[in-house]
Amino acid sequence: MDTIYSDTHTADTMDTIQSNNYNIYFEDSLGQIPRFIEQGKYSRFFILTDENTSKYCLPLLQAKLNTDNFDLIEINAGEESKDIDFCIGVWKMLIDFGADRQSLLINLGGGVISDLGGFAASTFKRGIDFIHVPTTLLSQVDASVGGKTGIDIDSIKNIIGTFTQPKAVFIAYEFLKTLPARQILSGTAEMLKHGLICDADYWQLLKESDLANPTAELVYKSVAIKNKVVLEDPHEKNIRKSLNFGHTIGHAVETYSLINDTDSLSHGEAIAIGMICESYLSYKKAGLSAEELKEITEVLTGLYPRYDLKAASTVTLLEYMLKDKKNQNGKINCTLLTRIGEFNIDNICTDEELLEGLSYYANL
Ligand code: GLY
Repeated sequence: MDTIYSDTHTADTMDTIQSNNYNIYFEDSLGQIPRFIEQGKYSRFFILTDENTSKYCLPLLQAKLNTDNFDLIEINAGEESKDIDFCIGVWKMLIDFGADRQSLLINLGGGVISDLGGFAASTFKRGIDFIHVPTTLLSQVDASVGGKTGIDIDSIKNIIGTFTQPKAVFIAYEFLKTLPARQILSGTAEMLKHGLICDADYWQLLKESDLANPTAELVYKSVAIKNKVVLEDPHEKNIRKSLNFGHTIGHAVETYSLINDTDSLSHGEAIAIGMICESYLSYKKAGLSAEELKEITEVLTGLYPRYDLKAASTVTLLEYMLKDKKNQNGKINCTLLTRIGEFNIDNICTDEELLEGLSYYANL
């Protein structure tokens, strides 16, 4: 059994968090960016956005920058942009704009922007500096922290990528006000995961909170939890695998929905389904109690819309799980809960067990 926390995180002040040789800024975070750029003595800087962040978030950042002397690289919004063609597009624009090794890429957006931008920067001219300015709750509490970069191939998520740390992360709570409710709840799923794997008190606190409007303190607490995990295990050899709870089944459901549904599931909606199925597997295989399984199921089904898994092809879902990059020797590998706040990594799950997990959700 693995545990990370015996302490309860308090977030009375939102001090800068130290990560793996970089800082995560909270207070007046956008206001700190000009000083960061100046101190880095960068030759040029570039801002990667999508059409939504260009419209809603770039003006807030620009208001803090004391120069217009940067080039903008804009991609289409959405997971479809996180592929090699868009990555080539970013590399080509960096070349066309004359980016050199002293250039800085600012990734202003959600997880697609930070993953794709981080990957493009980490490979351009063997690596240029990049910073993340995450604009969604999901990217603030998850994608921007921990140095994972990546792109998808054939809808297999993050199958190509690097571990490269950003030079800084600037978390601006004000961006969350620009988001629709569905996007907020997408990020909330990762926050709930942080409680489930590492901190039962935090889970309790989340349960009592208005998760359609999470406070800055809750965001801060989640970032602190994620940061503690990735600092201890930056390359996912051990406890970072805890962050994969709900993601083996959740990623498969997300990919399935992306391909088959006109209104596809958000990441958080798919991960919530994954967490319910994997909580069931936790109950069957890792000692999670029936009461806690019920509690998790009730909280998650209360927050997220029901998805008709009965109509989905379980053969296809299992195929996606088999392609998951976390697998070892062709075996599907899950992180499970032993109780709320404690986890167990490297649980090999058979096809039958995974199907049972899926049908637990489908028959709720
Ligand atoms: N999103 C999971 C991780 O950063 O490891």
